[in-house]
Amino acid sequence: MRAIIPVAGVGSRLRPHTYTAPKVLLNVAGKPIIGHIMDKIIENGFDEATIVIGYFGDRIKEYILKNYPIKVDFVEQEERLGLGHAIYLSRHTFSRSPILIILGDTVFDVDLKKMMDSRDTVLGVKEVEDPRRFGVAEVSNGYITRLVEKPEHPKSNLAVVGLYYIQRPHNLVDALREMVKSNYRTKGEFQLTDALQMMIDRGEKMTTFPVEGWYDCGKPETLLSTNHILLDSMPTPTTPAGVVAQPPVYISPKASVVNSVLGPYATVADDAVIENSIIRNSIINEGARITNALLEDSIVGSNAHVTGSFKRINIGDSSELEFY
Ligand code: UTP
Repeated sequence: MRAIIPVAGVGSRLRPHTYTAPKVLLNVAGKPIIGHIMDKIIENGFDEATIVIGYFGDRIKEYILKNYPIKVDFVEQEERLGLGHAIYLSRHTFSRSPILIILGDTVFDVDLKKMMDSRDTVLGVKEVEDPRRFGVAEVSNGYITRLVEKPEHPKSNLAVVGLYYIQRPHNLVDALREMVKSNYRTKGEFQLTDALQMMIDRGEKMTTFPVEGWYDCGKPETLLSTNHILLDSMPTPTTPAGVVAQPPVYISPKASVVNSVLGPYATVADDAVIENSIIRNSIINEGARITNALLEDSIVGSNAHVTGSFKRINIGDSSELEFY
């Protein structure tokens, strides 16, 4: 079984972090976002993946090859022309067997086998209060009749969450090919939603599957709330002497922590150095150094340095902040 994971986007909503790293390599609850996705598909028996890379693609490729020994094809999307375009470019990597498309900025907790136990194409959905910023599915008699991308006046509250089980990929490829050939774009991009709608119009049976555990990582506040939710379900680590951990926390065994209070909801990645500090509800990325600081609701980029004072910050890689 093959998963298609598009991760070519620039992740503009997560700047400054995405100025220096791809979004999917940001740490959440102890590993990069894409690490959670890879672990989930492998746990569900997938043995092949296609990863569509672009922005900082080499970094993603390096991480995957180093950590995941399954068959992975990397496809380069040089121009970011939309999700539909990303999938279209990857068409040579899959056959007529069903595929699962998973967006690269979503961590999910769902029984994939159950979702894929269908003869139809199945889209993961979640009921949300305000569906206007999502793709929305309208359903009648158990089948999706219409898919609308970010509607101003939604007719349903079922948001499409970024998990698509495509039963007959050749039908999707036909629709995408037609879209690309006729340059059919919405908001300037080739949308996967439009291609799926085209398939429905041609008689494809499409159903929905409820996904309660859907954790967005696309913005600083959602990355922090996903960190919070994932840490809640993780075991408490043993902590070094001189460190007070208020679980839930993740402290990498490769981090150095001295005379500090971590948590609740702190993630401290490899090679981070924390001294005389209090850190809660925050993500401290690889190699960052925090000294004499009290941080809350913060994301600190790789190799960034923070010294002194109480602050709420969101600083990118290799930055230096000193408060006196
Ligand atoms: P998003 O719409 O979240 O875009 O794409 P983005 O670049 O990641 O983030 P923002 O909106 O600028 O903050 C959803 C998923 O589809 C991929 C992205 O990498 C992300 O995993 N994608 C999107 C592509 O691979 N190619 C595209 O042309 C567009």
